Amino acid sequence: MSKKIFSGVQPTGNLHLGNYLGAIKNFVNFQNQTNTDCIYCVVDLHAITVKQDPSKLKANIRETTAAFIASGLDHKKSIIFQQSMVASHSEFSWILGCSARMGWLNRMTQFKEKAGKDKEKASVGLYVYPVLMAADILLYDTTHVPVGEDQKQHLELTRDIAQKFNLDFNSNDFLKIPEPMIQKEFARIMSLKDGTKKMSKSDPSEMSRINLNDSKEEIENKIKKAKTDTLALPDNTNELENRPEAKNLLGIYSSLNNQEINKTIKEFSGKSFSEFKKKLSEIAIEKIYPISLEMSKLKKDFTFIDSVLTDGNAKADTISSKKVSEIKKIIGF
Ligand code: AMP
Ligand code: TRP
Repeated sequence: MSKKIFSGVQPTGNLHLGNYLGAIKNFVNFQNQTNTDCIYCVVDLHAITVKQDPSKLKANIRETTAAFIASGLDHKKSIIFQQSMVASHSEFSWILGCSARMGWLNRMTQFKEKAGKDKEKASVGLYVYPVLMAADILLYDTTHVPVGEDQKQHLELTRDIAQKFNLDFNSNDFLKIPEPMIQKEFARIMSLKDGTKKMSKSDPSEMSRINLNDSKEEIENKIKKAKTDTLALPDNTNELENRPEAKNLLGIYSSLNNQEINKTIKEFSGKSFSEFKKKLSEIAIEKIYPISLEMSKLKKDFTFIDSVLTDGNAKADTISSKKVSEIKKIIGF
């Protein structure tokens, strides 16, 4: 059976190394497998669950698309599209919201984190965000969803919603139950300033993350200033459990090099952080800087970026509107 891959990234600016290693790099791996159809979405409807500046949002939609292409996605092999331009997503999200249970959504930890202390003031959109994500995935009969660790709970919810819909409408197997594809290692890249906090687009400190559009000097400088401890690098993984910064930096090096962490530990055991950071800088520049260069070229070519999305929107619309028609019949509309 062929695989169907779907994933999304929010156009909220500051795409970073965590987005790349946790998600986008795998999008490219899937695209290059045989018997695999890939659909990658710029999820702008998800972005507006928190306040966005309209002109910045537009620029960020193009920037995220540019990041996809610069990282190796090819619009001739994968469908690359903009969520808000394909009406089925909003439509199906409403329908699925009637299958999802309040109790399930109440357990979502990302809502709790993003809403903060004053939940009364959070948007309703932020609360039902995972239902829209389920709609994204289920519209395309997706079999696998490559995401970072932080999306695991949303994928479990997607499976629950799909099962409930199938059961309620006695439509066994109509909505396909997707598998999460979360890497075993390095699925959570941490902040360069605090190894216990996720690397995040919204961290106020630029020094906490390597952005995909950073210059060589910025990459080097951020790694140089990254938080470490005072010990030499360890000779086994057990020791890393209490050394979050060492664990994160060794993980980043391993992931960039496509190698297991044990190999990296062997390579640097007993060495100083300054020696290790030089090597880490080299590999980060080698892998990330070409993406940054390509992004800055692409960002100037609005016509091309917009045409990629227009083409992808039409393809996504063809698939998803057919699914929505079937869904309407099942429901009794
Ligand atoms: P977002 O920027 O929240 O739309 O995330 C896009 C993708 O990047 C999702 O699959 C996330 O799970 C993944 N991601 C975001 N931050 C990290 C991180 N620090 N480490 C690993 N994956 C991440
Ligand atoms: N919620 C995801 C994130 O914040 C983005 C997303 C939206 C997504 N729809 C999706 C990811 C569908 C995978 C599949 O990272």
